[in-house]
Amino acid sequence: MDQSLQAFDLHKFCTDLVKWYRENKRALPWREDQDPYKIWVSEIMLQQTRVDTVIPYFERFISLFPTPDALACAEEETVLKAWEGLGYYSRARNLQHAVKEVTEHYGGIVPDTKDEISTLKGVGPYTAGAILSIAYNQPAAAVDGNVMRVMSRLLTIYDDISKVKTRKRFESIIEELVVHTEPADFNQALMELGALVCTPRSPSCMLCPVQDHCNAREEGVQEFLPVKAKKKPPKTKFMKAAVIENQHGQVLIERRPETGLLAKLWQFPNCEDEMSDDVTKLSQHLSDRDAQPDDLEKVQHVKHVFSHIVWEIDVYKGKCVVKGQKEASSHLKWVDKEEVDWYPFPVSHQKIIDKVVKEAL
Ligand code: ADE
Repeated sequence: MDQSLQAFDLHKFCTDLVKWYRENKRALPWREDQDPYKIWVSEIMLQQTRVDTVIPYFERFISLFPTPDALACAEEETVLKAWEGLGYYSRARNLQHAVKEVTEHYGGIVPDTKDEISTLKGVGPYTAGAILSIAYNQPAAAVDGNVMRVMSRLLTIYDDISKVKTRKRFESIIEELVVHTEPADFNQALMELGALVCTPRSPSCMLCPVQDHCNAREEGVQEFLPVKAKKKPPKTKFMKAAVIENQHGQVLIERRPETGLLAKLWQFPNCEDEMSDDVTKLSQHLSDRDAQPDDLEKVQHVKHVFSHIVWEIDVYKGKCVVKGQKEASSHLKWVDKEEVDWYPFPVSHQKIIDKVVKEAL
């Protein structure tokens, strides 16, 4: 047993927490039933994304792809379009890849063993534990940052939560607790407590259903926990992008590479460049794509902050004449301005659509 649990009344703690959850849980769309596929989709969406943001995406996604079969058969581009704006697009690609595996190897039923479920693409220890406990009520740990915050306070654990070893320690602590209670409700209760009461800043200890069990509250150190090593500040990348219109009123878009950041999403042609008004590099970049505008006029600046990088994009506009109606390539397309938003774009380039393309309609 973890030493932090030695003077901890785990039975009473589990009972108090689960009772509170049953009386206070939010009505969330993925809590309407215990369909493992829906739980899976919700848990993937909820990684790095707030509940309020996820709700409308979840509802739309489930109405478009109500079953593993429906998602497995969908065009990847349709799936990315449904994910547009949620970020971390590899989550969507991995989910579809894994769902195809479920339809091919498990008859469309999400597997209910840790070994099988953990082999699916994008299903790490957290997601595996969340599906097994919430959908199948198995005594598995589902430890994310919120659970580590709650448990580090309850048990005054000062280990750095950005370390894998720390997550493993919390997993074994939760495994010791979850066998004494109802796993589906217990894990969701911890998540709910982290979201509603034991918040990162200014936790509402006075309202906490398990305040009597909390070492941090007793010692007054809740604001200093959890301990987390500081991330490096994000790097800034300066870019120039171009909205090029041809004589038919179409604009040029291109598909990002198959791998890497924002893989396979569409964008306006762009290049990394220093912050200056010199458009030599952008002109060359466009010329490589058979688009040679007479003039490039700077019309906008767009900033987008990712977790590890900041894009500062100067946006230029230009017109050019293209010969014939050729499709440049499968990665390069001239599309009617009204139809640009049929394609999945990163949020930064959606801003370009709103501010530059739609503005001119
Ligand atoms: N965060 C991660 N999983 C969650 C869930 N199932 N309900 C609410 N918030 C969550």
